[in-house]
Amino acid sequence: MLLTIKNLSVYYGVIQALKEINFSVDRGEIVALIGANGAGKTTTLHTISGLIDPKEGEILFEGKDIRRVPGHQRVAMGIAQVPEGRRVFADMTVEDNLRMGAYTRKDRTEYADTLDMVFNRFPRLKERRGQLSGTLSGGEQQMLAMGRALMSKPDILLLDEPSMGLSPIMVNEVFDIIRQVHEDGTTVLLVEQNAKKALNIADRAYVLETGSITVTGEAEELLNNDSIRKAYLGE
Ligand SMILES: Nc1ncnc2c1ncn2[C@@H]1O[C@H](COP(=O)(O)OP(=O)(O)O)[C@@H](O)[C@H]1O
Ligand SMILES: [Mg+2]
Repeated sequence: MLLTIKNLSVYYGVIQALKEINFSVDRGEIVALIGANGAGKTTTLHTISGLIDPKEGEILFEGKDIRRVPGHQRVAMGIAQVPEGRRVFADMTVEDNLRMGAYTRKDRTEYADTLDMVFNRFPRLKERRGQLSGTLSGGEQQMLAMGRALMSKPDILLLDEPSMGLSPIMVNEVFDIIRQVHEDGTTVLLVEQNAKKALNIADRAYVLETGSITVTGEAEELLNNDSIRKAYLGE
């Protein structure tokens, strides 16, 4: 497994946000983590990327416990998060935002190659490389946030609600790009409230309910599961 989460518990003060959760992501997979607002999805991603310190449990990346590894080193090791709400640097250009994503990497030619790779994947960002990021549309900002994360050449991309606030057409476009990024060789852990979209693209999925994983299986199985359909697919 590329990433294994074991008995992970996270608290905000006395409130337990994650209750001994276990899950794993194999290299080459798209794994979806679905669940309602407040279930603990963002907390899970923040704990993997090092923004939150768990009270208990292990985060194994390529078999090594990274719980004590600071966040910036986790980026250098191959873990990149695309935050909920994109959080691009609005007063900076598209290219400067992308440059920020490469901060763990020193080599100049390598930087140029990676920038080319990202511009190939996101031609719209190339056209707008000198534009202030705050003036991009929501979908373009999502692409920029993904491109910025890809600048660190991650093994695994942690995506937090990439569809949030986007029009249906833009949602489709963003999901097409996620599929392409995955085909390029990046493993994906996808957090979504849009369960249908997530299950359509994922290999496997976990359902998170108030801090506990309650259901897991092949994405296709979950798409055909009656209680999942009622609770998460609005059917
Ligand atoms: N900084 C925080 N301080 C206190 N409670 C928090 C904080 N962030 C999240 N929570 C709580 O933890 C739970 C999980 O939140 P979150 O991980 O953001 O859920 P999701 O991403 O699934 O919507 C919620 O009950 C939320 O209110
Ligand atoms: Mg969230």
